[in-house]
Amino acid sequence: PQIPSFLLLLLLLVVPEARASGYKTCPKVKPDMLNVHLVAHTHNDVGWLKTVDQYFCDAATLKAPTWKTSPCVVNILDSVVQALLGEPTRRFVYVEMAFFSRWWRQQRETTREVVKELVKQGRLEFANGGWVMNDEATTHYGAIVDQMTLGLCFLEDTFGKDGLPHVAWHIDPFGHSREQASLFAQMGFDGIFLGRIDYQDKYTREVAQEMEQVWRGSTSLQPPTADLFTSVLPNNYDPPSGLCWDIRCHDPPVVEDLGSPNYNADSVVAHFLNVAADQAGHYRTNHIIMTMGSDFHYEQAQNWFENLDKLIRLVNAQQQTKGSRIHVLYSTPACYLWELNKANLSWSVKQDDFFPYADRPHNFWTGYFSSRPALKRYERISYNFLQVCNQLEALTGPVANAGPYGLGDSAPLREAMAVLQHHDAVSGTSRQHVADDYARQLAAGWGPCEVCGAGPGDVASSAVRNMSHPRLCPIINLSSKYPHLKSFPIMTVFHGLDPFLLPTLASVFLLPWHQVVDHLVLSSREHPPELLFTGSAPALGFSIYSVTQVHKQNPQTGSSWLNPQKSQSSVLVIENEHTRAVFDTHTGLLKELENRDKKLVLPIRQAFFWYNASKGSGAYIFAPEKLDALPVSLSSETHLVKTALVQEVHQKFSAWCSQVVRLYPGQRHLELEWTVGPIPPEIGFGKEVISRFDTTLETHGRFYTDSNGREILERRRDYRPTWNLNQTEPVAGNYYPVNSRIYITDGNIQLTVLTDRSQGGSSLSDGSLELMVHRRLWSVDGCGVGEQLLEPGKDLKGLQVRGRHLVLLDTTQAAAVGHRLLAEKEVLAPQVVFAHGGGAPWTHPGNRRRTQFSGLRRELPLAVRLLTARWGRRTLLLRLEHQFAVGEDSEGNMSSPCDLGLENLFSTFTITHLKETTLAANQPWDRASRLQWTPNTDPDLHTPASSLDSAAITLQPMEIRTFLASVRWNLRGVV
Ligand SMILES: *[C@@H]1O[C@H](CO)[C@@H](O)[C@H](O)[C@H]1NC(C)=O
Ligand SMILES: *[C@@H]1O[C@H](CO)[C@@H](O)[C@H](O)[C@H]1NC(C)=O
Ligand SMILES: *[C@@H]1O[C@H](CO)[C@@H](O)[C@H](O)[C@H]1NC(C)=O
Ligand SMILES: [Zn+2]
Repeated sequence: PQIPSFLLLLLLLVVPEARASGYKTCPKVKPDMLNVHLVAHTHNDVGWLKTVDQYFCDAATLKAPTWKTSPCVVNILDSVVQALLGEPTRRFVYVEMAFFSRWWRQQRETTREVVKELVKQGRLEFANGGWVMNDEATTHYGAIVDQMTLGLCFLEDTFGKDGLPHVAWHIDPFGHSREQASLFAQMGFDGIFLGRIDYQDKYTREVAQEMEQVWRGSTSLQPPTADLFTSVLPNNYDPPSGLCWDIRCHDPPVVEDLGSPNYNADSVVAHFLNVAADQAGHYRTNHIIMTMGSDFHYEQAQNWFENLDKLIRLVNAQQQTKGSRIHVLYSTPACYLWELNKANLSWSVKQDDFFPYADRPHNFWTGYFSSRPALKRYERISYNFLQVCNQLEALTGPVANAGPYGLGDSAPLREAMAVLQHHDAVSGTSRQHVADDYARQLAAGWGPCEVCGAGPGDVASSAVRNMSHPRLCPIINLSSKYPHLKSFPIMTVFHGLDPFLLPTLASVFLLPWHQVVDHLVLSSREHPPELLFTGSAPALGFSIYSVTQVHKQNPQTGSSWLNPQKSQSSVLVIENEHTRAVFDTHTGLLKELENRDKKLVLPIRQAFFWYNASKGSGAYIFAPEKLDALPVSLSSETHLVKTALVQEVHQKFSAWCSQVVRLYPGQRHLELEWTVGPIPPEIGFGKEVISRFDTTLETHGRFYTDSNGREILERRRDYRPTWNLNQTEPVAGNYYPVNSRIYITDGNIQLTVLTDRSQGGSSLSDGSLELMVHRRLWSVDGCGVGEQLLEPGKDLKGLQVRGRHLVLLDTTQAAAVGHRLLAEKEVLAPQVVFAHGGGAPWTHPGNRRRTQFSGLRRELPLAVRLLTARWGRRTLLLRLEHQFAVGEDSEGNMSSPCDLGLENLFSTFTITHLKETTLAANQPWDRASRLQWTPNTDPDLHTPASSLDSAAITLQPMEIRTFLASVRWNLRGVV
């Protein structure tokens, strides 16, 4: 239908104004000159060489003498506010909300009013605005969205629209993921600034004047939904050389007094004009940006600002005196971006990502993909647990953290998780005591969420208690001991959206002589015995099981299903109806994998190897001394365990490396549970241990890795899509981040390995695939952390790490869907918790207690996942996502748009009002507007968002939609 012309007119009148909103306070520029935008900024790591508290310098949490040891973020914020008030043209940009929000809480009302005014006038601008500047290689997209939401909603609550950041500012992360660009675009950012890109990439871009372009963050979402304007800064995030005027720098201040022996105004101005002209040669418009600041700068902000005041005055004076065409001004990243947008150029489009990152030959920042594997795993299970806690809170609403048990809540874990996303936290690149502190923060966050763990006041338990029975989760008397228990219920809480078979190994909680009824089987291993449990829980709900001791009998001598079968025969095989894995009887190594449903047989060898580290290796840098990895052992000691519920091949490769290859009934994947460490010192600079799969697949140098657990990117050995690579490190230079999966395919058969945490991975020869599981280094790279990556562990011998790889073999056509669904289940695995029993078994007919609960009245379509459900700010925050990409499901219709209704979907509440927001929940969807850029590809028409009807929500492939819902509770009907 034709749009009435008066409406068009209205659109023309309204739209440009709307687009300019937020940029109104930008400084005046000179259109006929080269404008140099000076951006005064500080980079505040949320933990690195020091802990978060140490960097903040918080009297409340630190004791003398660490308190107030420079650098201190409180000094920075105090002194910047003073300096901004001293001169109205000065501007400053601040980034990390973990620090700012803490500082804000400690300010008096008068200071807050002043700061609000500075923000309103654009003199203090927020960029990025997440809780932290997150790492991009080792983070999961759900956790990125959570941490950005926390920071951006703080800004929204505190400053309203004035505090809204317009640009993303990822100046320090060591490489950049495409998913990050997509997420930022969906959060409403107008552009992103990057500091670190590969040195060859940067050189190529400088020559081609391609430092700025449009980055297309998704191959599924309709452009420009995931398009993000991207600007690569000229100098990482530092000032040009010779122009650094912080107390942490050594450049002489600007001296104008001609009589002074230190007079240098002339030479400073000349140097600046040179630098500016040089830089302008690499950029396309008559605007350039210079970052005037660095790590923890501006503790004494006057130093910086007074010199910048002089520089600006002296340089601009040359316009009159010398006819200079260079105009320099205080500006901000957003105001610089706004000028680029007004230039109305057509920009090239980037479709790949910025991994891996090398800042010079041989110096690849690909070690941190795997550094500190235990912390990486702790972060991942904490993500899982936070979602359980969120969902239980959401299902019970205000009840969850009120009432007699209601002291705790999910906020501490949410903040701890946000901190963990920082680019020196989950990345594994902080010092040891800082890494310990990150783990401490997570542990402290778990407490208030814990189900029957921490005692009274835990959210999950009071929520569950309310939905089932007050006695479900009695406060555990810590003096009681498990051996005296006659029975205890096991509760599973699963927050995924489809029923799930749950094999759980929970040795800690059981003693060997407990025999069990119902769904439980004791698997007999040497030490310690383990409880194997197969149960299921409904969507977004839980099931309760009880364990009862029926005979006091040692299972070692008991029934036949407990007898391990030592391998005596010539074949070593574990198999079920779908999968068969054959092991070499001489070496004990896996030698063949079969998918019986598809009649696919693949010769495959899996073993552990290690790279000998070199002098240049460190927490960041992977720099193997030689290209060949050495085997941990050519063969393994092996034994076979077969019970009714599991078949296992136990492999021991060395004193510090072993593995259990496991197959459950009905399962299509093989589970490889590896245990590596403590890595012994011996000689050299350290060891970087990998698990490698060698197959006969013809893969033509290609392999595939996920981007932050979401879309898949193709990788090619010794190749970069946008420049001619001069490969200086054939191993480290081919490593890519793996957050959830890596695969190889010959076009017909696909071999996928799913990980349980972020790891580095590669395919260094055709048919081969490897993942780095652990690393321990006696060398130190030159990237600043200044400490060996030794991870001493409790006994100082080094950390032992355990993890799982799930291996799947399928046709390439079928693999995409099945492997993605399994990957999602890995990230959001069921949580199993234990509670006291006593009395009658829970399955007893006389026992009326609820043993099952679901938060959903009906199942969601398989393609749709509930990414977020949490209670906060008096509303319910819901995120629904389509979890498949365009074309991913070539056999079925999983990749089609998907409709669902939210009406009467949830069992404990009814949605009464629904409002859609941008991805970080800080802007209403219909009022958010982004700057339009002209990519030099065929213009794609943006499908306008349809109006909101909670009865029919449509999700396009890979789309995430975010809602704030008002609800009416109907708990009564459920309890
Ligand atoms: C931007 O450029 C296009 C052509 O490249 C032109 O049609 C359009 O009018 C320009 N817009 C503005 C605001 O200058
Ligand atoms: C559950 O919450 C409801 C609503 O607040 C409350 O009335 C009820 O007493 C709670 N039930 C239990 C068992 O705590
Ligand atoms: C590749 O890089 C190395 C190391 O910087 C250099 O010595 C060599 O000349 C480069 N080769 C080419 C073809 O540019
Ligand atoms: Zn940093």
